[in-house]
Amino acid sequence: MRGGTVLVFSTSDKGGTGRSVTSCNIAYRLCVSGRNVAYVDFDFGSPTAGALFEISSVERGVAVGGVHSYLLGESGTAARIDVGTATDRPDLERLWPRSGRLVLFPGDEGGAEFLTSDDTVVTRCAELLVALEQEFRVVVVDLSAGRSVALDIALRATALPQLRRRTARWLIFHRWTRQHILAASGLVHGPHGLLETGERCGHNRNELLGSTRYVRTAVPAPVAHTSAQHPAQAAWLQEQDAALRRLATANRLGATALLGATPMEPVLQWREQLILDSDVNAHIANDETARAYIELARRLVDIATWEKL
Ligand SMILES: Nc1ncnc2c1ncn2[C@@H]1O[C@H](COP(=O)(O)OP(=O)(O)OP(=O)(O)O)[C@@H](O)[C@H]1O
Ligand SMILES: [Mg+2]
Repeated sequence: MRGGTVLVFSTSDKGGTGRSVTSCNIAYRLCVSGRNVAYVDFDFGSPTAGALFEISSVERGVAVGGVHSYLLGESGTAARIDVGTATDRPDLERLWPRSGRLVLFPGDEGGAEFLTSDDTVVTRCAELLVALEQEFRVVVVDLSAGRSVALDIALRATALPQLRRRTARWLIFHRWTRQHILAASGLVHGPHGLLETGERCGHNRNELLGSTRYVRTAVPAPVAHTSAQHPAQAAWLQEQDAALRRLATANRLGATALLGATPMEPVLQWREQLILDSDVNAHIANDETARAYIELARRLVDIATWEKL
């Protein structure tokens, strides 16, 4: 088995945090930097990766053989789609062959959340991840929101002997608000959270915590650069931002546990998509957004990020 593959599990406590959009953009940036990347849609209830990579044929998952039916044993192999050849977006297609490969393992159209994670499903999940490790440098798995069965399956699979020595990273996505900060912290540290569940599955709690980082998404700039803002409003926003920073630190989501943040991006407020360099060059997307994804991708695979907290 080739070493060095990074298994990345994306989750969030709440829905609509930007988990899928950010994970797809990270996967894309890793590809641009020359790595072969697999993107696995474990959001069984609402697979969206096809739409994000603009593959109209699998916009809402595949008709047969998606990840969900593979895990259930209804399909012998998991359907795979080469993003470079299947995407409808010419600017994305043009990336290859200069980039690494980007392969989507889509969910099933009309799939549903698992109700429980039985041993067969967990074993099949581990088999899939082991197989993907042979082929890809990074495997990004988009889990569902909350204390989901998808999270449970991933924790159990990575605790199995065939995967426990592998490099797994757990990313928790959250918005930059009070409730999201508390929710994200609860998902990791709270009852039935990542650490408690992970420990029950056989993970070492400290190792798991050391493999967990937070991603703040769609963070508004506390001071608007463009509009003529009232000083009282600017002061209020700055105070809120400072208060959120204190709250994050108090809830163990501070700078040391942070992978990075993405700024509020107008394009993504309107449409879920990859931010390509061509979007930035055309002055449609903000340069800061593209740079945020590049930085998240860089830090994710940089060993220095994961040295003991
Ligand atoms: N940096 C950003 N700026 C503005 N909007 C963003 C940003 N990142 C993501 N969004 C938007 O937030 C919304 C939710 O994003 P996304 O679908 O990725 O979240 P999710 O956590 O995967 O949701 P779900 O739980 O439904 O799977 C989308 O409309 C997306 O375009
Ligand atoms: Mg999603």
